[in-house]
Amino acid sequence: MLIGIAADHGGFELKRELAARLEKAGHTVTDFGDDRSDPADDYPDYVIPLSRAVASGAVERGIAICGSGVGASICANKVPGVRASLIHDHFSARQGVEDDHMNMICLGGRTTGVENAWDVVQTFLAAQYSREERHLRRLSKVDAISPRVG
Ligand code: RB5
Repeated sequence: MLIGIAADHGGFELKRELAARLEKAGHTVTDFGDDRSDPADDYPDYVIPLSRAVASGAVERGIAICGSGVGASICANKVPGVRASLIHDHFSARQGVEDDHMNMICLGGRTTGVENAWDVVQTFLAAQYSREERHLRRLSKVDAISPRVG
């Protein structure tokens, strides 16, 4: 799968670990930065380009990491076509895709341990949108707020 990943200093170490594991698992990973751990960097500078790549289809799924995952999530959802959420657990990683068509997962580099992050990322990537009528209906109501892209 084509995967994009991005993080500020709060998520830099987790990004590096997840990117290595994803490559080892056979995925193609595009790293949108930061390329170093800079305490002065700002997550929108990396999350916005990643979000645009997800929205355009340049990458199939996105992984955005900041210290808590909150800023990354708020930022990603500003880009039309992105359906992002901060995820801490296995159930939500799967259901977020199956029911809500989540195409970007946001993680907290300071709140989520490596093994839990790896579990939710693998779960997120393995899940597919159900396209069941009730989920399509709900998403169409969400999309009525801002036009659907992709
Ligand atoms: C950066 O220190 C921190 O505020 C950021 O990574 C993130 O947690 C914001 O939500």
